[in-house]
Amino acid sequence: IASPLTDGRPPSPRDEEGGQIGYALVPMIARGAMLGPNQPVIIHMLDIEPAAEALNGVKMELIDAAFPLLKGVVATTDVVEACNGVNIAVMVGGFPRKEGMERKDVMSRNVSIYKAQASALEQYAASDCKVLVVANPANTNALILKEFAPSIPEKNITCLTRLDHNRALGQISERLNVHVSDVKNLIIWGNHSSTQYPDVIMLPLKTEFITTVQQRGAAIIKARKLSSALSAASSACDHIHDWVIGTPKGTWVSMGVSSDGSYGIPPGLIYSFPVTCEKGEWSIVQGLKIDEFSREKMDATTKELMEEKSLAYSCLN
Ligand code: LMR
Repeated sequence: IASPLTDGRPPSPRDEEGGQIGYALVPMIARGAMLGPNQPVIIHMLDIEPAAEALNGVKMELIDAAFPLLKGVVATTDVVEACNGVNIAVMVGGFPRKEGMERKDVMSRNVSIYKAQASALEQYAASDCKVLVVANPANTNALILKEFAPSIPEKNITCLTRLDHNRALGQISERLNVHVSDVKNLIIWGNHSSTQYPDVIMLPLKTEFITTVQQRGAAIIKARKLSSALSAASSACDHIHDWVIGTPKGTWVSMGVSSDGSYGIPPGLIYSFPVTCEKGEWSIVQGLKIDEFSREKMDATTKELMEEKSLAYSCLN
């Protein structure tokens, strides 16, 4: 697992315990939340040089927690050592969005990180490595990674929209006073951004619900003065868990994946779709009816992703 712990920036006093998402994520993995209670794991953690000591502290804590499933920990600032032989790469490294910043503001810093990490993964990770990009702009970082690592199968590169999916479940559960596990088959379409389209049928106050889910990341930043970490880490576990182990029969989840042209989304764009997973492979759920309201929202988030793509390329040039 290559998971930079300070989210790619020099550590500030707030970061003294290591990057927020990485710090929340590693104990979940070591406890089996990602790959199940019978799968031993070796965790590789990557961070930048100024954070090396803090990273080593996290390694010490992982050892101190004596997790039965944890068979090894590598804490390194060497991207080659971090990527070497990994089967699953969770990319949380990136410059984080602060209160008042737009996602585009972090674009130029982050796409160059993803271009560099693409070649390290391509050369040193296991050939069937599954990649999940968490850091923003997540879809576009995943797109850059895919385009600069052409030997990694396209289906193996994904981005996180399970966080938005879980947020939508949480909102419905709160509003209708039902348990999250009784809510099924909602969809997040498109970008992990405020143009995402959380699609639920038959919900009262649909528009207000959509805005709440779209703005939830910003609301967390406003409240915590930091972006979401425990919910992001937990959703990253859910994403990999269902991808590797499979989605339960009769349900689907949302994943940012490379479009095959389904639902009129331009092929190759990393777009969030409803997917089912079986034997380590995701497939886009087909045949859903798209009404005019949905079409408009799906096209708006497509448009934003196309713009992000050209902005990303202009930053790289
Ligand atoms: C989130 O959704 O919590 C993160 O992507 C933070 C952000 O920048 O919106």
